[in-house]
Amino acid sequence: MWVNAKGQKFWVKYHFRTDQGIDFLTQGEADRLAGVDGDYHTRDLYEAIERGDHPSWTLKMQIMPFDEAKTYRFNPFDLTKVWPHADYPLIEVGRMTLDRNPTDYHTEIEQAAFDVSNLVPGIGPSPDKMLLGRIFSYADAHRARIGVNYKQIPVNRPKVPVHSYSKDGLMRVENASDPVYAPNSKGGPKADPEKYPRVEVWRRGERSSMPLTRNGRTTTTSVRPARSCARSWITPHATGWSPTSSATSKTE
Ligand code: HEM
Repeated sequence: MWVNAKGQKFWVKYHFRTDQGIDFLTQGEADRLAGVDGDYHTRDLYEAIERGDHPSWTLKMQIMPFDEAKTYRFNPFDLTKVWPHADYPLIEVGRMTLDRNPTDYHTEIEQAAFDVSNLVPGIGPSPDKMLLGRIFSYADAHRARIGVNYKQIPVNRPKVPVHSYSKDGLMRVENASDPVYAPNSKGGPKADPEKYPRVEVWRRGERSSMPLTRNGRTTTTSVRPARSCARSWITPHATGWSPTSSATSKTE
């Protein structure tokens, strides 16, 4: 999801299109190279960057106004479906270029942590269930792989100050001063509900008119309130439909 400065929300799909063209190895070539030259791909990339032949990808976006998801002819958050370009044309927004090789493979590559839950203001998640699963999974893997303070390692560290409720843990290098919790009575952090209002994709008790396909049939869903606020962002509001949830009733 993208949210602009006016607070308008859009569902988006990112398309990174290769500028190199598409080439491939045959199964026979790949089988042979795996035995005699296992670093073939890494070296190919490294040498191309060194000689200034910088690989790049053009980024194109598909942009769906927030409310259109409710009535679109199929569930746009089903990742097995593509959004037809006739309905949502590709809009070119930029280019990603690999123009520098790492100086130190360990610090800059092995310790790199890419995480789909690492979001900047203006970008939010969508109710795609695969994405929701990845949102907890990557950060968990990073904490296990490189430690709970992996975001303080230079290759991962943001270039702007970060204010978070996180402190302590092994290899902590940035000082945190109390309180790091909210609400608090000591002049520490507090929520800003105006800037970051509670966002529910489908409001409590509201009937969703979003078409959902199940076994080829189209269904609409009415969603009952979730049991607690803390859970509500991931329970039925998020997808409009959950096959196993007792908090959901279906009408056809
Ligand atoms: C659309 C589906 C997915 C895409 C495009 C995707 C993409 C990727 C990519 C590009 C990497 C990095 C590989 C590398 O470092 O060489 C990765 C790693 C990983 N993926 Fe996925 N993935 C997907 C689905 C999932 C799902 C469903 C889960 C688990 C619920 C998951 C868990 C992980 C984990 C734990 C890592 C390793 C993270 C780390 O320690 O760096 N992925 N994935």
